[in-house]
Amino acid sequence: MALSFDFTNMMASALPHGAGITETQWTEAAAPFAKAHAAVHARTHDLGFLTLPENTALLESSLAVAAQVQGKFDDVLLLGIGGSALGPIALRTALCPPRWNELSTAQRSGNPRLHVLDNVDPASISATLARLDLSKTLVLVVSKSGGTVETMAQYLIVREALANAVGEAQAARHLVFVTDPEVGALRRIARAEGITTVDIPANVGGRFSVLSPVGILPAALMGIDVRALLAGAASMTADAQRVELTKNLPGAFAVLQWLSDRQHGRRVQVLMPYADPLRDLALWFVQLWAESLGKLKADGSSVGPTPLPALGATDQHSQVQLFMEGPKDKTVTFIAVKGREGDGKIPVRHADIPELGYLGGHTLGELIDIEQRATAGALAARGRFNATLSVDTVDAWHLGALMQLFALATAYAGELYGINAFDQPGVELGKQFAYAMLGRGGSERAREEWDALPKPESRWAM
Ligand code: PA5
Repeated sequence: MALSFDFTNMMASALPHGAGITETQWTEAAAPFAKAHAAVHARTHDLGFLTLPENTALLESSLAVAAQVQGKFDDVLLLGIGGSALGPIALRTALCPPRWNELSTAQRSGNPRLHVLDNVDPASISATLARLDLSKTLVLVVSKSGGTVETMAQYLIVREALANAVGEAQAARHLVFVTDPEVGALRRIARAEGITTVDIPANVGGRFSVLSPVGILPAALMGIDVRALLAGAASMTADAQRVELTKNLPGAFAVLQWLSDRQHGRRVQVLMPYADPLRDLALWFVQLWAESLGKLKADGSSVGPTPLPALGATDQHSQVQLFMEGPKDKTVTFIAVKGREGDGKIPVRHADIPELGYLGGHTLGELIDIEQRATAGALAARGRFNATLSVDTVDAWHLGALMQLFALATAYAGELYGINAFDQPGVELGKQFAYAMLGRGGSERAREEWDALPKPESRWAM
């Protein structure tokens, strides 16, 4: 079980035309990294994600609920948004067999399907509700704050539908809330109605919560090996105790991206797994990196690399042209998978047709790996920064390690940029405007500010 990281193609020694991080820049980054490392690891009491992998009491709380409902439901419907949805989606895509929700009960070994409503588009919600037999559905309402507008709207609609389907008295048995231990509307409702709840520790924020019950409970319900997931994360946390950059993978990742951005103008940071199961991991990473690092600093300047998800080989036919010849403002981090399930032997057929003949006898696994290496090499040959993270296989252990790698890297990067990676003040104003328009009490000042905004001008509209 191992993860390796090859960042040769980020370095000046490998890239042509004077591109790349110099050895001096890399060596000099050791000091700011040591500071960042100390700052992050001194905060185990308030950065709860650091200790999630070893929090057995928390793990048991999810397993107890999973055991309690086992065999009773065909479907799990998860209501949540942002960090409360992206982690569970990434876990399902990576660790359940492909097209999980289309498999028969036997193919799913009796475990339920998982549906995630992560938006308030009415068409998606009504389509999902129309497909589900709510009498056989468990609804997980996931919200750290316990009051997020989208999740609360979903909850009200789904709760009504549940009451209509199974009766008001039974509806509560179909609900589990995953929320803050003390505060928030969900917690109040749960207390009043005796709804089963699982805690998200107070010191774990939304986008850092995948290894809390936010991800662990749905994963356990789908039969994912959650202990292996946490063991992989624990191993990454243990490795990250080391301050030497060459021995601290999350640290190396953070420093390389930070240097690329601040010293080489590589502001767009692409995460490109060459594996379908990791497609949604890239989306999860995007939220983590963007919401944590895009910040206004105290001196009024703005920082924040822009994360971009891609998927190999698919996006070789979409985004790679831009990565190769577009602005030199990107880094690409590939995720390669060494061992793939079912390598997919390509049959020898049409041997006389040059476009097909050379493929016979190779495997799809070989093809996708070669394409990844070829793309990395091509980017390097044109002076484009790239690095490759390799995992032995996509399983629970490696996914846990990858997720903790990115969470730690985000925390280190926050320190390197000199910002707070754990808040998100920038989303507040839009929320307040929405509350004002919806008539939520206490939003009178936002209403005034909204009303004072410039009105659409006919000359600028068509
Ligand atoms: O990372 C974050 O804090 C956010 O993206 C949240 O996950 C998102 O806003 C949902 O919040 P909550 O879980 O409180 O409903």
